[in-house]
Amino acid sequence: MTCVIVGASSGLGRALAEELARGGHPLVLVSSDARDLLPLASDLTVRFGAAVRTVAADAAEHAGLAAALDRAVPSGQPITALLFPVGAVEQRDDGWLEPELAERLVRVNLLSVSSVVGRLLPRLISQGSGTIVGFGSVAALRGRSSNVLYAAAKRSLESYFESLRHLGEPRGLTVAFYVLGYLDTQLSYGSRLLLPRADPKRVAKRVCRALGRERGRRYVPWFWYPAGVLLKAIPWAVFRRLNS
Ligand SMILES: NC(=O)c1ccc[n+]([C@@H]2O[C@H](COP(=O)([O-])OP(=O)(O)OC[C@H]3O[C@@H](n4cnc5c(N)ncnc54)[C@H](OP(=O)(O)O)[C@@H]3O)[C@@H](O)[C@H]2O)c1
Repeated sequence: MTCVIVGASSGLGRALAEELARGGHPLVLVSSDARDLLPLASDLTVRFGAAVRTVAADAAEHAGLAAALDRAVPSGQPITALLFPVGAVEQRDDGWLEPELAERLVRVNLLSVSSVVGRLLPRLISQGSGTIVGFGSVAALRGRSSNVLYAAAKRSLESYFESLRHLGEPRGLTVAFYVLGYLDTQLSYGSRLLLPRADPKRVAKRVCRALGRERGRRYVPWFWYPAGVLLKAIPWAVFRRLNS
């Protein structure tokens, strides 16, 4: 039963690939560069005997990515799970980003997910089962003066996943959305952080253990739930000063 991971070459995606390969799942791994994917696929095959296909495609070209994935998972082969640890930030994402880069952020962080889901959803629905897993960020809890469009895309993604529950759950699908705290990966490298970074391997184990059972929105690590409630409750006049 195949698991598709979009954003599999590093960080959380790589850890999810390893965890699912260990569990005996055939995998389809996606990222932009075959030079990252091919050694990873060989490694997983050698260590776990996993059947691994790779799709090297730019997530910003989301319609092309969705079509390539549709071809990569042979029809008739059931899809167990679609997981989307894809994500990208831009250093100058401070509200003044050039339109091309701004659009790219939204394409990679939001539209890549909705396009792939849109393309593969009819297959999941005709199977009557399958899990769709999205990943948001605590960076989207409140609007800040950095990661402006990244956070906007992640908040939109959260809304998209809530809508997906309406569509998928009555048809037998499981839809889960993890709001992640900071991870110890290249995405957060060099950032000044309030709370500790989580190990992506531990997060991957947590997500895979619950795959197919857990639904709705969850905070990982758990302490981000109370932290998020507090952060959202801070009045603007105070929050404005914290963010300066
Ligand atoms: N790191 C954090 O502190 C943090 C905090 C909260 C939420 N998150 C979210 O958690 C998820 C995993 O984050 P991470 O830290 O593991 O990120 P990461 O190490 O940077 O990995 C991101 C993955 O997305 C892929 N990707 C990015 N741009 C792409 C593009 N244009 N086309 C195809 N693939 C692309 C990357 O592959 P290539 O770039 O090699 O193609 C990589 O496989 C993301 O959704 C992120 O937004 C992260």
